[in-house]
Order: sequence, then C-alpha cells, then structure tokens
Amino acid sequence: MNLVVVSNRVARASSNEPMTGGLAAALLPVVEKSGAIWVGSSGRVRDGAQREPFAEIEQLGAGALAMLDLPAAHYGGYYEGFANSALWPALHSRADLIRVSQDDYRSYREVNSFMARALLRFRKPDTAFWIQDYHFLALGAELRALGVTQPIGFFLHTPWASPATMGCVPHNRELVEAMLAYDLIGFQTEEDRSNFLAYGKAELGFAIADGVVTTPYGTSRCEVFPIGIDADLFAQQAQKATAHPDVSRLRKSLNGEKLVIGVDRLDYSKGLINRVNAFDRMLTMRPSLQRTVSLLQIATPSRGTIEAYGNLQGELAKLVSDVNGRLGEADWTPIRYLNKGFRQGVLAGLYRTAQVGLVTPLQDGMNLVAKEYVAAQNPIDPGVLVLSKFAGAANELDTALLVNPHDVEGMARAIATALSMPLTERRLRWEAMMAKLRRGSVQSWFADFVASLEDAHTANSDAAGA
Ligand code: F6P
Repeated sequence: MNLVVVSNRVARASSNEPMTGGLAAALLPVVEKSGAIWVGSSGRVRDGAQREPFAEIEQLGAGALAMLDLPAAHYGGYYEGFANSALWPALHSRADLIRVSQDDYRSYREVNSFMARALLRFRKPDTAFWIQDYHFLALGAELRALGVTQPIGFFLHTPWASPATMGCVPHNRELVEAMLAYDLIGFQTEEDRSNFLAYGKAELGFAIADGVVTTPYGTSRCEVFPIGIDADLFAQQAQKATAHPDVSRLRKSLNGEKLVIGVDRLDYSKGLINRVNAFDRMLTMRPSLQRTVSLLQIATPSRGTIEAYGNLQGELAKLVSDVNGRLGEADWTPIRYLNKGFRQGVLAGLYRTAQVGLVTPLQDGMNLVAKEYVAAQNPIDPGVLVLSKFAGAANELDTALLVNPHDVEGMARAIATALSMPLTERRLRWEAMMAKLRRGSVQSWFADFVASLEDAHTANSDAAGA
C-alpha cells in the first residue's frame, strides 16, 4: 500500500529550526521510516495557486515531503479564520472565543478543496490517504467528490468538545456530514470519541453499532488511538543533551536551586495564567521555598495575529513581571520567562534538568510535552510530572500528580508536594509511566491506525457491495 499523509504543518528533517507543535514533531520520524508521502503547507502563499498547485518536493527517508503554497486569497480565512478562530476555540471548549465570518468558512472549504485537487497527483491505484487534524475536516469529502475510492482516514489531534459546544461552530452539521466520507475517524481519547458520537446522534441521527456510524451521508468507523512518542529514543536524546552548552549553562545558573519547567505554545488552552498564579501562590503560601526554586516557562509565540492570542501574550507578560517584581531578589528571579522555541535536542536536556514538569492545560488533545518530560528523566533520580486531568495524556500517565488546572490553590499544593517527594515514590511513579510510554509508542500508533484503516475500508466496500 502507498500511503499519503496530509497535515497543515509539516516538518523538514533537514531543518535546524525549532519545531512548532506536537503533530509535526511526532509525525516526522515515523513518516520518514514508513516511506509515505507527507503533504502539507509550505508556509508560503501564492496568487493563482488554485489554478496550478505548486509543490516543493524533497526526499524524506524512503518517502517524500511535498510542501504546497496555499492560495493567497484564502489562506488567512482558512488558517487564522475558520481553523483557528472557530474550530480551535470550540474544540477546546472555548466557544466564547469564536470569531468568524462567512468568508472564513468559504476560504476553509476552498483550501480543503484545493488540497484535494493537489493530492490527485500523488494517487496510485493502491494509495491510502491519511488526513490529520481539524484543518482538513472536509478533505475526505472533497476527495470523494473527485472520484477517489481508495481508503481515506482521519485523525483528530485535538479534543472533540461536548455536543452543545460543537453546535456553536458555524456550519457544524455540514462539516460533520462531510467527515462521514472518511472510512476511519481516529480520536485521542474515549471521551473525544463519545462526544463526537453524542453530537452525531443528536444532530444527524447517527446509528451506531460497534463503533461504526451509519447515516445517509456515509459509514465511518470511529476508534481511539492515543498518540505516543519514541520514549527510549527521547531518553537517549535527553542524556546526550545534558552536555549541550545551553543546558550546562542553565545548570550552572541554578546555583543549587530546584527547577520547575513548563514548555507550551502560547495558547489560551494551555492554562498558562493559572499556572503562573499557582507558582506565585505556592511561593506566597510557603515563604521558606522562596530562593530555593524557580520556574522556567517557555511559551513559544503562536498564531499571534489572532486577537485572543495577542491578548494572552500581553496578560502573561504582565503577570510574570508582577510576580518577579514582587517576590524576586537581586540574586533570584522566581520565573524565567522565554518567548521562543527550542530544538528538541536542547529541550530534552532542559526537561532532564528540571525536578518538576508542569503540564497543566485547561483542555488538550494529548500533550506530548507530558510524555517527553517523563521520557527525559534520569531513571536514578527522576523528576515529578504535575499533569492536568484535562490533558489526553492523563489517561495513560495516571501516576503523575494529577491536578485540576482551574484550582489554583490545589495546583500550588501539588507543585510543593512534587518538590519534596521522596526518591522512592518518585521512582515508583516514574517507572509506571515509562512502562506505559514504552507500550504506546508513536510507531504503534501509526501502525495501528493504518491497519485499522485498511480493515474499515474493506468492511465499508463490502457493505456497499452487499
Ligand atoms: O493538535 C493540535 C496541533 O495541530 C498540534 O500539532 C500543535 O500543537 C498545534 O496544533 C500546531 O499549531 P500551529 O500549526 O497552528 O502552530
């Protein structure tokens, strides 16, 4: 089988740039090994791209990476507009942040249909298409409209919110109808899957049997495939990275202080304001901890032209400076706050240096930072993960210190508990998490989805022929 994987953002093996986001970083090594063709946006736009799709193609392991210039007239409405100002807030249960126009929806559909036409050049008789994430909910339907009869699967990296919240997305019914063109729809968690099915039952009268949805619009199988990481490879990277100059400088600068680390895109779903408030609360509740610990918060700028993101950046910078101004000393800065990305080879070393990893999103599909923090730890003296129960990762990493990110005081207590946790308990918790990471690798995620896609397609074709 020839596999074509599609996502908005892609990653170049040759690039030295820090990677933005979990999806591209997770896909790179597996796609590289699989020999698939990976198609996505080049990050550039072009007038006339619709008439004549242009792809820059480079080798990617045994396969290839094809980066397309997207149509200039529709890119803003598609990416900043419908994908990230309607779908993203709704999927993360923030319907109050939805801001879109009819033009944005039109542009979203245009880019989906542009991508479908561009994909035809990669189609062979035995090709299967695997579409990633909320940018391309309607791509399967566009491919079917062009006569594609091969297997087409879809995986959602974000959560799927409650039916009431998803009902706030303009054109929600049309979009979910379009999704039924997929043979297989994959989710990160059982909760996401059941929210999707509950929406479908209520809005579109889904008939559901054994995870298979049958409707007048199509038949799709819905399954859960929690995405993982290559834990042993990440552990090796972390060990190597301790020698990296950025990491050794950090260690020296700590001067015996403990380190708490947070690494996120600057996004309202990540719970950054509550997290900083919790760290502040901990230092205020327990003054003896002052000067003994600092928080390194890396918040990589993201989607900065969208108002909600610009507002968050301003609010967070002000909050951090308030905490540092109020609690800091001439020789101690409570929060080291950075607005830039780091390469994985450095990040792995930063994770290993920190005694506590803080991953406290308000909502998150999976959150691979949680998994990477665990994999990066020194087995002899592992750090403690403080993890939001609303991150998909909490289903597997249930021996982390699980917190409610809305409860600032509870988080403050959890960080203090993590900082003083005895070695035996840290080891027990860490070993249990590492064992789960080894079982649910990114390789098995990829292989399981592809196998299930073939099955689902065969079953759908048999049912259609019967
Ligand atoms: O699942 C959400 C996702 O696609 C992740 O891969 C990543 O965290 C993020 O969104 C990337 O966002 P963007 O491509 O807009 O920077």
